[in-house]
Amino acid sequence: MKLAIMGAMPEEIEPLLAKVDNIKKTEYASNIYYEATYAGKDVVIAYSKIGKVFASLTATILIEKFGCERLLFSGVAGAISPDLNIGDLIIADGLCQHDLDIVAFGHPYGYVPEGEVCIMSDVYLRNIAKEVATARSLTLKEGIIATGDQFVACSDRKAWILKTFNADALEMEGASVAVVCNALNIPFFILRAISDTANDDAGMDFDEFMVGSAKISADFILDMVERIE
Ligand code: ADE
Repeated sequence: MKLAIMGAMPEEIEPLLAKVDNIKKTEYASNIYYEATYAGKDVVIAYSKIGKVFASLTATILIEKFGCERLLFSGVAGAISPDLNIGDLIIADGLCQHDLDIVAFGHPYGYVPEGEVCIMSDVYLRNIAKEVATARSLTLKEGIIATGDQFVACSDRKAWILKTFNADALEMEGASVAVVCNALNIPFFILRAISDTANDDAGMDFDEFMVGSAKISADFILDMVERIE
């Protein structure tokens, strides 16, 4: 069982690359893919670059070219839920695209014909995450993650995403990875550690906390890899 582990930015995969063994690097489609082993398992690690299009491309290549049979995403997010503070972890039960808008044709936000507003992640992988959290005495929130090609640093936009999608956190890749994995029948899992609260000062918080939160998420993912059968 080959596992894909992806992030969006170098900082999100560097803590993974520091801990895996037998790294083999392949350049493909303007990106670098790292085949490696961890806890006796085959993994393929890559960062996509930021945003839904790059994330879709990378997820597709991890599955179609490298033969990954499950996909785990590790990275950072902006908090919407007041329960979430910097460094806290959230797993997505469902993912939606907050910037997908054909409401002019009578459709709800986040919906296009033959798609779904919200795509659910894999229950087995979510349960593994809960086991890791219990073993490490960590609080793990489970909720909706909203994805869009926007860095949200605006309390009005954040309030709109909460009202429209009932989302707990937001980021820029998860739902596009969900669309790809769902179409290709690949179980997937999205984990995020909070780097900011998507308010007007989100840019400053992101710069300060992104590296630390990315590492919290990556370390958690590796604990999960150990337990995945
Ligand atoms: N990822 C981390 N923080 C974010 C934010 N505020 N907006 C979009 N993506 C993010």
